[in-house]
Amino acid sequence: MPEKLYLNGNYTAVKKAKISVFDRGFMFGDGVYEVIPVYSGKLFRSEGHLARLQHSLDAIDIPNPLTTLQWIEIFSTLIEHNFPSADSVIYLQITRGTMEKRDHAWPPDMQPNVLVTCTEQVYAKQDSATAGEKAVTLDDTRWSDCHIKTINLLANALLHQEARNQGANEAILIREGFAIEGSQSNLFIVRDDIVITPPKSRHMLGGITREIVLELCQQNKIICSEKNISEDDLHQANEIWLSLREDKYGLQQ
Ligand SMILES: Cc1ncc(COP(=O)(O)O)c(C=O)c1O
Repeated sequence: MPEKLYLNGNYTAVKKAKISVFDRGFMFGDGVYEVIPVYSGKLFRSEGHLARLQHSLDAIDIPNPLTTLQWIEIFSTLIEHNFPSADSVIYLQITRGTMEKRDHAWPPDMQPNVLVTCTEQVYAKQDSATAGEKAVTLDDTRWSDCHIKTINLLANALLHQEARNQGANEAILIREGFAIEGSQSNLFIVRDDIVITPPKSRHMLGGITREIVLELCQQNKIICSEKNISEDDLHQANEIWLSLREDKYGLQQ
């Protein structure tokens, strides 16, 4: 259990942290988030995550409340407080702010609410990469701006739960006949020694892990192609990969 979190400028004991029930994240799902892995107390690819955070904030017109240096300072302080040399996970969430009068529209002077936590990363016993996992295909019922890492994850959660209900561990989402990504992961297939992943689009979250896989393919001279994957391609594939990370309950985040 982490001891402290960061909330709106203060490092607070987790149990004492409080936020208004009129927070627009709580009322409307009006906010964005990032999940940054930490290995042996060191942030991994924080620059990529902060760039994607900026992309998400710009897309929904919330000003970034902190500079890169300030973000890094907060992450480092929380890692130091909670899990200084272990693997952990930084979760950060920015909502548009608190608004007592209920209105879909918002005034120009909103103060975003900022939450950052650092929680322990414990890996599941089973190694999915070698043992394999079950996945099902489901119609992608999300909205059309899936490139934004919004906290409004209802469709993702419903789709993931449906996969679980069907005895699988992830849903591969199909939009207009093409496999886009998982409910919380990016998708790759291998066919005839070529790694294929769908191109970035507004219908997909540009995963940091996806970028790393593309880089590793390039560095290791593995042919990798960014092109659409049909449902039929999934069935013809030699391998299907999903870029999942696991937490201590064996659930994906
Ligand atoms: C819909 C979706 N796609 C892809 C990913 C993978 O992104 P990343 O590799 O940055 O963790 C996630 C992670 O939360 C996700 O929710």
